Amino acid sequence: MARTITRNISLALLIAFCIVLSGCGRTHDKNSINAAPYPDHAYLAPTPPMGWNSWNIFAKDIDEARIKAAADSMVSSGMRDAGYQYLVLDDAWMAPERDEKGALQADPVKFPKGMKDIGDYIHSKGLKFGIYEDRAYRTCQSLPGSFGHEQIDMATFAAWGVDYIKMDSCSAEGNGRLSSEDYAIYRQYIEETGRPVVLSISDFGNAAWVWGGKETSQLWRTGWDIRSWMDSVYACGDCSGGSHRSHPAFNGLWQFAGPGYWNDPDMLQVGNLKIEDEKVRASANKAHFGLWCMLAAPLMAGNDLPKMTDTVRDILTAPEVIAVNQDERGVQGYKVFIDDKLEVYNKPLTDGTTAVLLLNKGRKKADITVTWEMIGLSRKQPVRDLWERKDLGTFKDSFTAKGLSEHGSMMLKIGKKGKPIPTAPPVPLEKYTITRQGVTSLADLYYAWRDHSTPVYNRTFGGNPIRIDDKTFKKGFGCKSKAAFMFAGTERADRLMGTVALDESYQGDNEGRFRIFNEDFFGNRVIWDSGKMTKDSPAKEFDVELEDYRCLMLVFEGRNTKDGKQANDVLGVFADPRVIADD
Ligand code: GLA
Repeated sequence: MARTITRNISLALLIAFCIVLSGCGRTHDKNSINAAPYPDHAYLAPTPPMGWNSWNIFAKDIDEARIKAAADSMVSSGMRDAGYQYLVLDDAWMAPERDEKGALQADPVKFPKGMKDIGDYIHSKGLKFGIYEDRAYRTCQSLPGSFGHEQIDMATFAAWGVDYIKMDSCSAEGNGRLSSEDYAIYRQYIEETGRPVVLSISDFGNAAWVWGGKETSQLWRTGWDIRSWMDSVYACGDCSGGSHRSHPAFNGLWQFAGPGYWNDPDMLQVGNLKIEDEKVRASANKAHFGLWCMLAAPLMAGNDLPKMTDTVRDILTAPEVIAVNQDERGVQGYKVFIDDKLEVYNKPLTDGTTAVLLLNKGRKKADITVTWEMIGLSRKQPVRDLWERKDLGTFKDSFTAKGLSEHGSMMLKIGKKGKPIPTAPPVPLEKYTITRQGVTSLADLYYAWRDHSTPVYNRTFGGNPIRIDDKTFKKGFGCKSKAAFMFAGTERADRLMGTVALDESYQGDNEGRFRIFNEDFFGNRVIWDSGKMTKDSPAKEFDVELEDYRCLMLVFEGRNTKDGKQANDVLGVFADPRVIADD
């Protein structure tokens, strides 16, 4: 009974939170991003999924013995009881050929007893079974992908007892389908099997939060592959929690996650970090894990579990740190302070307290202070150290972590239990989505995704006024090759207009090309293409009708005129790009 009440309250909270935060509770209308009803499958991951994945430590070298040993260790190390549920076999579990009926089969040498046997073993340990596939003809390791076999593959996985699918995107440009279409196909065939299966979008961070990943999936990558060094860990963290992938106005992607769908900065490298000094290594492991917990990131461990040291095990199973990640309010933490390499993150929790991470990403020893003002509190507040599981006392107005060395961090719980404290205000929909009647200048909106170099608003890349043929344009973007950025759309837009030219300050001989896509690169849906332009080409205007588009991606690329290779020095301008909605 008590359980049911708790569940109902959390469900109500979850739905209310979701409606407030992102408008996803609305029915399909023309004015909301990712306009879809609250997805039924959100129950599959009410909190960020936790588990272990084979890729970071073993890459292609997986086999029955290694996977079963990982399953055993998940139990004996206490990882399962700490919340790690999914054991995911990444790429290279499959045979190079399908069977005579077209079904996938296990690599006969690595997994002689087949995948059902592996699934049964994983389940017998009280764990859930996860598997990898790719939505193209081939996986990233050139093994059979699922394109053209979507239905049979989802049925095969269901028959093997699969509970989680990581669906990758290598070579998916060849599919001729938008990412949103691809993942909808998998969700549909999964649903037809009747088996509850988590679907994980693995696409190197190509804007699932903009094009509607939550309509089909429970998590999506926000960046490139994580590596086993801290620069990479922090860069991946900043794809979710910083401005690597979105306009700084968003302060990370926190407003795009919530119970049921999560930003995934990639799998954990805790235990794999190549750092000589043992103390620094332990600090780095904690910094990485604490950051992922604050970012409400899926916690997919990626280390060699049977060989894990006690220090690493204690980090991966730290109960109060994990509780922050698994808090059912599902707020993704966001930065409230940054001073070069020193950062403070805040994650308001269900019980009225808030989790705070003080993190030194630099090499120099430093003190870091969180003030109550940064986190929406005041007066005297109790502070608890979540790594040490120790109350530190009551503090007035602020708390300072003293002498944090390289990768040093503190993870705290601050405040008294009570009414949940508000989050920071999310960026309103109309500030990043084409919703208006009449003319919307794209330069009045924040891009919700970007890759490569950052476009400059209303100026050339070098910071000068945008001028083409003696005419000055107040609005537009200055770009340096290569630049790609995306605006969220709705169906309410009829035309897209603007002018492009190479920046008049560019005097080189290389070529530039401007393209506008519907959705991300994988779909290959080019709405407009300038073709090759040089400094001598006249400006080109575009005026195209828009139909069935979800988001607009603007791309500027430079090429070496002689050999066609990418040239990074070419400058171009999108002048007055605008969308017109007639009704
Ligand atoms: C891609 C993914 C990785 C991993 C490999 C496997 O690079 O991003 O996480 O799955 O493929 O080939």
